[in-house]
Amino acid sequence: MPISEYITRHRDAHLHELMDFLRIPSVSTKSEHKPDIERAAHWVAEKLRSAGLENVERVPTGGHPMVFGEWLHAPGKPTILFYGHYDVQPAEPLDLWTSPAFEPAVRNGKLYARGTADDKGQIHIHFKALEALMKTEGRLPINVKVMIEGEEEVGSVNLWNFVQKFRDRLKADALVVSDTSMLARGVPSVTYGLRGLNYYQVEITGPAQDLHSGVFGGAVPNPLTILSELIAKLHDPHFRVTVPGFYNDVSRLAPAERKALNSLPWRAKTFKATVGAPALCGEKGFTIVEQLWCRPTLEVNGMWGGYIGEGAKTVIPSKAYAKISTRLVPRQNPAKIAKLVEKHIRALLPKSVSCKFELLSMGKPWVAPYTHPFFGAAQRALEKGFGKRAVFIREGGSIPFVTQMHDTFKVPCVLIGFGLPDENAHAPDEHLLLENYFGGIHAIARFYQELGKL
Ligand code: BES
Ligand code: MN
Ligand code: MN
Repeated sequence: MPISEYITRHRDAHLHELMDFLRIPSVSTKSEHKPDIERAAHWVAEKLRSAGLENVERVPTGGHPMVFGEWLHAPGKPTILFYGHYDVQPAEPLDLWTSPAFEPAVRNGKLYARGTADDKGQIHIHFKALEALMKTEGRLPINVKVMIEGEEEVGSVNLWNFVQKFRDRLKADALVVSDTSMLARGVPSVTYGLRGLNYYQVEITGPAQDLHSGVFGGAVPNPLTILSELIAKLHDPHFRVTVPGFYNDVSRLAPAERKALNSLPWRAKTFKATVGAPALCGEKGFTIVEQLWCRPTLEVNGMWGGYIGEGAKTVIPSKAYAKISTRLVPRQNPAKIAKLVEKHIRALLPKSVSCKFELLSMGKPWVAPYTHPFFGAAQRALEKGFGKRAVFIREGGSIPFVTQMHDTFKVPCVLIGFGLPDENAHAPDEHLLLENYFGGIHAIARFYQELGKL
């Protein structure tokens, strides 16, 4: 049976199997979900085995297990490493979901559940493409290694050690990842750049303990006020980050790349509708696409302190907290930026408070040329699966493994995303367009075949 017929015939079975995967709440950040993480790792291992991969195992790390499998019987053909993650972000706030986060539901040709777009749905595309090739041809056209991580959503904390320890097992001619987005519906895309991510937590302490705001208010520092003032000073009126030296090493876009990125079929109107804010704001002097993909940023992800329960409580809190991140672009050095950010924050704070500054994770940006023949194969395969020519894009998100793999082996990294920017990854009502899920299986099967012809 031709492979495309096989894939089409198994549509329902594939969808139902993905739904089983989505029912496992493999939230990596919460210890109460450790059993679910284990279940998801088992599930992945089982599916890799039934797809015909060999030496499938769950490799323990300092944190959640890595799942590994391979099929290496195509001598003379390229070897690829496929990477993805089986962990997901927490589903909260639960009451904002139209249907429960871990009870997958189809509405309007979209599959809703936590992990549909990021990244369970996308890795399942590869599992089913591999299975289809195995079931119809009895073999794969190339050598394949598969590595599925359980800690991506918490910054891949144990990954670097893992990569160093299993260097030989991971070695491949290319890295293949499906954990990014398409530029827009109907526009198949290959991503050649990601921003890096540094994540910080700041703890400001004023009084040694919480104080009655009537008895003490007026004469003592309030850490929440001081934290708010600090955060307000981190950008200037042109939305530039005020950290001295922050932009020093940022590489300028070459005119040709600038032109290419700004002439993509990207629609500001669609972007604004997805954002849903009354107006946008961003660094002056750059287009939105440049702001999102090519410029570094500083964001406050959360801040808290004091009383936030029901009703009123009069109190001057002892402490105030903020979670802050910086997205980094080529030539910025994460360690250097972390130092600059800490120095600036300490310099801005008054003597009336103390500050604990923690660096929770660090990650380099990644941008690489897309001239290797593997990218041509991806483009041909996507055209086959989606009926349209693929575009090359950069994106603003971060995937630590891509940089680590690129730095370790200096191999091409082919990022073929099947999510869409408005699919609510990390938010309530996350979903995946079924047209992209099924189209993805066809395209990836074709991609592996195309690689076999090189
Ligand atoms: N799949 C995303 C990254 C992504 C999304 C890249 C969309 C490009 C387009 C990944 O799961 C993710 O969420 N990464 C985190 C970083 C990580 C270190 C927690 C991110 O970008 O915030
Ligand atoms: Mn992801
Ligand atoms: Mn994610």
